[in-house]
Parts: sequence; C-alpha cells; structure tokens
Amino acid sequence: MNTRTFGQTSRPVSEVGLGCWQLGSDCWGDLSETAAENILRAAVDQGITFIDTADVYGAGRSEELIGRFIRDCPEELFVATKLGRGPGTWPDGYTRESLTAATEASLKRLGVDCLDLTQLHCIPQEELHKGEVFAHMNALQAEGKIRNWGASVEDIDQARACLDAEGLSSFQVIFNIFRQKPARELFDEAKARNIAIIVRLPMASGVLTGKFTGTESFAENDHRNFNADGQLFNVGETFAGIPFPKAVELAQRLEAFLPEGLAMPQFALRWILDHEAVTTVIPGATRVSQVESNARANAIPALSAELHAKLAAFYQEYVHSHIRGVY
Ligand SMILES: NC(=O)c1ccc[n+]([C@@H]2O[C@H](COP(=O)([O-])OP(=O)(O)OC[C@H]3O[C@@H](n4cnc5c(N)ncnc54)[C@H](OP(=O)(O)O)[C@@H]3O)[C@@H](O)[C@H]2O)c1
Repeated sequence: MNTRTFGQTSRPVSEVGLGCWQLGSDCWGDLSETAAENILRAAVDQGITFIDTADVYGAGRSEELIGRFIRDCPEELFVATKLGRGPGTWPDGYTRESLTAATEASLKRLGVDCLDLTQLHCIPQEELHKGEVFAHMNALQAEGKIRNWGASVEDIDQARACLDAEGLSSFQVIFNIFRQKPARELFDEAKARNIAIIVRLPMASGVLTGKFTGTESFAENDHRNFNADGQLFNVGETFAGIPFPKAVELAQRLEAFLPEGLAMPQFALRWILDHEAVTTVIPGATRVSQVESNARANAIPALSAELHAKLAAFYQEYVHSHIRGVY
C-alpha cells in the first residue's frame, strides 16, 4: 500500500483509507459488530492505516468499535474522528466547554490519550466565520488532547472560511468523478499550505461502483432512503447530490471510458488518487470484499492525461447541472 505524508505532520498514511460511517449501523442499514470487526481487520490486512469516523456515527458506536479494535491491533493506525454535530454542540453550542466534552467522550470511546486528528464536522458557516472555534481547537491541541485538527466541509465557501485559520491540518471534502470542483478551486491552495486533503464519498454513496440499476430500494435506516433528496442533512452527502436515477444513468455512461481490464470501483478511486493534492481517500464499506477491492486501486497505474481530460469534459457537459445543494 502506498503512503502519503499527512499535511504538516511527518506521519505517512495509506493513500486508500477506510470510512467508518457504516459502522454506526444507523445510516447504512444494519451492520453487526462482527461484520464491523471483519471490515476493520480486512482494512489492516490490506495495509490501510488511515481510518475516518465521527462521534455521531451510531451515537458513538463507530468510535467504540474502532476503540475495541485498535486496543489489540499491533499496527499503528491514524484514526481521524469528528465533532460538532452531536448534542451539546450542534447547531450553535461551539464553546470551549462543549468541544472539550465532545473530545473527552471521543478519547474515552476510542480508548486513547490523544486523538490523531479531530475534524469540525460540517459546522455552520457562520461559526467558521466567527472563528472562535479555531481558538478552541488550538487550545485542545495545546492541552495534549488532540495532535491535529481539521475541517470537514460541505462546499468551497466553508473551506475558504477555514483556510487562514492557524493550526488547521486538513480538509475533508466530497470529491469524485461527479464532483470535480475542489480540484479546480481548493487543491492548489491547500497543497501550497501543506494542508492534507481527505476525500469522502469517492463512490457517490455506491453509485460510482457501477453496481446499481436505479431500481434499488434502500433500508429505512439507510440515508440513501431517508436522505435521498436531502430531507435530513446536506443533500450532497447522498449520491453526491444527484437524484439517484440520474446518478445511476451517468455512472452507466461512464463505463464507456473504462480502460480495458479495469473495474469501476478501482477506476473511481484511481481518478481521485491521480490528484497529487489528495492525501487519502476513504471509501466506506459494508463488506470485506469491498475493502479488498478498494485497496487494489493503489496498485493501478495512473489514468492517462487524455482520459482525465475526457472525464473533465463529461462532468462539465453531463453531470454538473444535476448537482443539488451547496457545492
Ligand atoms: N460530513 C462528513 O464529514 C462525512 C459525510 C459522509 C461521509 N463521511 C466519511 O466518508 C466516508 C466515505 O463516504 P461514504 O461512505 O458516505 O460514501 P462512499 O465511500 O462513496 O460509498 C460507500 C458505499 O459504497 C459501496 N461500496 C464501497 N466500495 C464498494 C465496492 N468496492 N464494491 C461495491 N460497493 C462498494 C458500499 O455500499 P453498500 O452499503 O451498498 O454496500 C459502501 O457503503 C464515510 O464512511 C465517512 O467516514 C464524512
């Protein structure tokens, strides 16, 4: 597994990581503890060392399962979590005390003395503009509760509101073949400042694996059911903001661009990894086979410049106008 250095830290992380929203078992259908453990084990077996979670995934379940796993895991993992969407903080309670309480709860669930990285979890734009929250994060770092802090953002404006914050280590962004804007509007600036880029939704919630026909129905506790059109949170977090049938149709058309012998999941991930500013991509998984398949993207040669240009044109012409919500 190739590694890339995480921003200003000297720590190498696997360029393919693992997203652990699925381990919450509340937004991707049910996932048993055994399945979760198997997914984590498979990730480590594939050389994955970067894991992303949040305090609110399954109201702490994802962090707890990761905490239990890393206790007995001999490999050194970089665990990134998030805060700011849970009770006591969301939507306007970003005090030093509430952020300390959320951090201490994550430390306890993960069973560590210091968090490798904690990320502001898509907190309201006005809080980012006020900026007090950044001072609170730096205070948590000075106290030794966190090693690094970053911001998970929904759009470029939110990222810009954080760019000048002293101490910011990373951005987490939605970036995939359907959502190409960050490459143009954020990556150069982030790279120049040595800010790590963590890429979420690489598969547009599964659509970019090419496995859907558009007739699927999702479980009641799956956000692809209850947030398909942004009913509960940012529409961009589900299918990258594109209506499901349209997203499936676009993914089917993408198959015409597949280099011979390459499968869609690896194609989608390779396209992301070809961007130098990207530090790690964190596909989520509900099965061991998905983790294994996704890890393989790291061994595939870069896509040609010609193919990148064709995919940029495809996005501009056919995808861009279908993206809903902030972007
Ligand atoms: N606001 C935020 O900060 C935020 C928001 C969203 C996500 N995240 C983080 O980003 C991570 C990744 O994003 P995501 O999970 O939302 O979206 P994603 O990675 O685009 O999609 C994950 C889903 O794609 C399917 N999948 C993945 N690999 C596959 C493969 N090789 N073959 C077939 N299907 C495959 C699985 O679907 P099935 O479930 O159908 O098996 C999996 O649950 C999350 O786990 C989370 O850690 C953060």
